[in-house]
Amino acid sequence: MITHIAAISFSPTGQTEALVREFGEQLARRFQAEGVTLSRHSFTLPQDQQSLHGFGPNTLVVFGMPTYAGRIPNKALPFVQQLFSGDPENKTPAVALVTFGNRSYDSSLTELRDELEKKDFRVFAAGAFAAPHAFAAIGRDHPTVQDKEKFQELLDRVEGKLRSGEPLERVSINGDAPVAPYYIPLGEDGQPAKFLKAKPQTDLTKCDHCGKCAQVCPMGSINPENTDEVPGICIKCQACIKYCPKGAKYFDDPRFLSHKAMLEKNYQRTAESEVF
Ligand SMILES: Cc1cc2nc3c(=O)[nH]c(=O)nc-3n(C[C@H](O)[C@H](O)[C@H](O)COP(=O)(O)O)c2cc1C
Ligand code: SF4
Ligand code: SF4
Repeated sequence: MITHIAAISFSPTGQTEALVREFGEQLARRFQAEGVTLSRHSFTLPQDQQSLHGFGPNTLVVFGMPTYAGRIPNKALPFVQQLFSGDPENKTPAVALVTFGNRSYDSSLTELRDELEKKDFRVFAAGAFAAPHAFAAIGRDHPTVQDKEKFQELLDRVEGKLRSGEPLERVSINGDAPVAPYYIPLGEDGQPAKFLKAKPQTDLTKCDHCGKCAQVCPMGSINPENTDEVPGICIKCQACIKYCPKGAKYFDDPRFLSHKAMLEKNYQRTAESEVF
């Protein structure tokens, strides 16, 4: 039986973190009588991407990442591979969670499961939860009633499996289809929109040089001495845009904006969350 729950996330704009936190808290409440404790860990910011975390077989790990291009964010994948490990002999039980912005989670959940399994976790339950998109105006109605029902269904399933005392088996996701290549973002014209090199701009008439954007960048890519400069890699996560108190950061790359427009045109329907 588990004695501890560790809720772990990479979450530039906070939606995955909120999902993982809620899941960890509700599950811990269900095991309150057994004295199960809860801890939270983030590897979103550079200062949290250093320390190693090993978990024993009596800890349940709830591990969450967002979906980027149908996969888990490729620049955050090394952190999953290098910072976290389970118990090689008895396998640390884990629940894999992804959020996605109302288009599709494609292979992100499968990839997260597989990466965790490689690090001696036993991923016996998983869920993909639809959320508002980080940069396109789609999915704003999430969490819907259906999302909340799926969330409770997954909690029930996880609780049931843990209480059953039966060996935990690796969860099957979408018929165990293998991880697909990265989704290629399209523009409004239906052609690939190549915006890999796009970086946020700063409206200097609004910016008061508070430095917040540099503090929230998961890649540590914004120069804190001159926040107008982005010398490092930009993963387009939108953290600097969301957390700038002055609304001074923005993207003006035409290919990026064309992809955003394509999403807003084609993905207005409400996507469904799924649990496994
Ligand atoms: C660079 C980037 C790529 C994304 N790719 C996808 C995608 O392929 N499919 C999708 O449905 N949502 C996609 N999204 C939306 C995010 O998955 C969604 O907004 C997520 O909840 C953000 O998580 P966070 O708030 O924890 O940062 C993408 C967002 C970003 C920033
Ligand atoms: S967070 Fe906004 S206001 Fe603050 S330094 Fe960055 S761009 Fe300027
Ligand atoms: S500069 Fe790029 S990577 Fe850094 S917070 Fe802004 S969007 Fe994210």
